[in-house]
Amino acid sequence: MAAEAHPMIVPTDAEVLQAQADLWRHSLCYLTSLALKCAVELGIPTAIHRLGGAISLPSLVAELSLSPAKLPFLERLMRLLASSGVFAVGNSSEEETYRLNPLSCLLVDGVVIDGNAHQKAIVLAANSRHYIEAALGLANWFKKDTQLSSKSPFEEVHGASLFEDSMALLDPESDKMFYEAVAAHDNLGISVVLQQCPDLFKGLQSLTDCCGGDGTTAKAIVKAFPHIKCTVLDLSRVINTVSDNSSVNYVAGDMFKFIPPAQAVMLKLVLHFWNNEDCVKILSQCKKAIPSREEGGKVIIMDIVIGSSSQKILETELLMDMLMLTMTKGQQRDEKEWHQIFMKAGFSGYKIVKKLGPRGIFEVYP
Ligand SMILES: C[S@@+](CC[C@H](N)C(=O)[O-])C[C@H]1O[C@@H](n2cnc3c(N)ncnc32)[C@H](O)[C@@H]1O
Repeated sequence: MAAEAHPMIVPTDAEVLQAQADLWRHSLCYLTSLALKCAVELGIPTAIHRLGGAISLPSLVAELSLSPAKLPFLERLMRLLASSGVFAVGNSSEEETYRLNPLSCLLVDGVVIDGNAHQKAIVLAANSRHYIEAALGLANWFKKDTQLSSKSPFEEVHGASLFEDSMALLDPESDKMFYEAVAAHDNLGISVVLQQCPDLFKGLQSLTDCCGGDGTTAKAIVKAFPHIKCTVLDLSRVINTVSDNSSVNYVAGDMFKFIPPAQAVMLKLVLHFWNNEDCVKILSQCKKAIPSREEGGKVIIMDIVIGSSSQKILETELLMDMLMLTMTKGQQRDEKEWHQIFMKAGFSGYKIVKKLGPRGIFEVYP
């Protein structure tokens, strides 16, 4: 039976023009991501930094050892990236110059900003063949009748899972790059947290950083609060690679089975990787590891909280959620969804201590 035709609202001429421009932009904005990848591969942020932070196009062409014939093309690439906020533009005397801004500073080789995190890996991983092909498979994935526990679109397309042995076997080089991207994602920001939320750790006697990797975050916390006895829990294959265990204690284990007891357990950028059911299991283990609320027991969670009032930050939160949908079985959550998980795991209450960009910092009480 033919669907009943509903009358369509006829847009005005101005609306049609705007809609067409918006459609072009939405259809093509992957080119902005790929132009950014191109800039990283050419080493443009590092070249600008090497030449003192501002550079004219002819100098940039020379510094990158490109053919002078490529200058007009490079100009078009830089024009898009400057308009998208990746570089700043300025005029020194009569020549137009491109400068680093806070975003492109994060892409300069060898510059250490908060947590020794080189952000280049995020650009390269997010625009890698594996990630893009997984996203191209989204519609097919939706059409399949599968359960929550089944494969992510990434796994469906590649037959391997991110951050598992299957990915390392499929393509060891990309696997290494994906781990570098996670380290870049996870390590940036702990100094800001320590400065902005000192009360989070003040008065704590002990802390378990659950899924704390090589201990980068735990070491930063102990440096700022030397009296805290800090334990890092991670899988044995991660813990076995740690060489310096002078300031924090390392425990190899599975968080689904046991979390080393402490006054507080921290889950920094962990839960977004897991579905709701697994999050409840992880949080239930956290609850077993901490004392009562009266004795200062709490779980500290740092993760994205969807719902920022800034449109740009909200868009970032939603894109990060699409990333989780496409690549993993996890998700980003809004406050209501976080609340439900905390209650299901048997906690009595929570507080958002601070929102730092797209990320929120929770204290969750037993
Ligand atoms: C995304 S990272 C966590 C980020 C880290 N907390 C940080 O902020 O730097 C994921 C970590 O969880 C660890 N992990 C995964 N499954 C685990 C499990 N069942 N038990 C303990 N650690 C686990 C991984 O080995 C990896 O180091």
